[in-house]
Amino acid sequence: MKQILRTTIVRAALLSAALLVTTLTALTAIPQSQAGSTAPVAETASGRDVAASGRPAFTGAEGLTVQEAPPIPKDVTDDRRRQRNYPEQPPVIPHSVAGYQLDLNANKCLTCHSREFTGDSQAPMVSVTHFQDRDGQVLGAVSPRRYFCMQCHVPQTEAQPRVQNTFKDMDSVIRQGSGTSGGGNN
Ligand code: HEC
Ligand code: HEC
Repeated sequence: MKQILRTTIVRAALLSAALLVTTLTALTAIPQSQAGSTAPVAETASGRDVAASGRPAFTGAEGLTVQEAPPIPKDVTDDRRRQRNYPEQPPVIPHSVAGYQLDLNANKCLTCHSREFTGDSQAPMVSVTHFQDRDGQVLGAVSPRRYFCMQCHVPQTEAQPRVQNTFKDMDSVIRQGSGTSGGGNN
């Protein structure tokens, strides 16, 4: 009985020693491999930036410069209707739409823009195309395909475009063309 107990104790001791060795090897191995991968990054300025940001680094963060996100730009809410770039453009929204319910149960936009309420609201009425189904048939109410206004009409913000827009509207194209070869009639 004593003999068995002793061998068990010895075995247990051996086992835990082996475990200890494995753990130690693993523990020392991790910092080594980490040091190997982060050392060159820490030397670059951007590497310092990532570290200085105090955020946990993520894979691929090497070489990135951390920039604070700019504040969310303000909505344009000056109530001035904008010129359209072409006749079929859905006009942009010049007023606040914050908190306007627009779902299956309620359409806040139509409480001002539908024909029957424009007298009170002085909002421009949705045009006749909003009453047409896809076959051009004019319906008695706003067509389901024009129900979710913000599919097409969007508010504007004061954000500056990242890329300059070189769009020219039809009038300037025609004006430019008439000065040269006489338009498209040749
Ligand atoms: C409280 C009334 C009211 C509500 C609600 C409202 N609008 Fe307006 N909307 C107006 C008025 C008035 C104008 C005219 C310009 C101005 O005063 O802002 C306008 C202008 C517009 C214009 C510009 C039209 C043009 O010809 O340039 C669009 C587009 C528009 N609204 C879309 C919407 C959408 C989409 C919603 C819902 C998310 C909405 N509006 C909700 C009152 C309202
Ligand atoms: C599928 C796209 C689409 C949807 C959805 C839509 N519109 Fe329009 N809207 C347009 C286009 C395109 C124009 C300009 C040409 C026209 O009148 O059809 C326009 C024009 C307007 C105008 C200006 C009308 C005028 O005569 O100056 C108002 C106001 C407007 N929409 C409000 C709304 C409201 C409110 C809704 C939601 C009930 C809505 N729109 C849904 C595309 C859309």
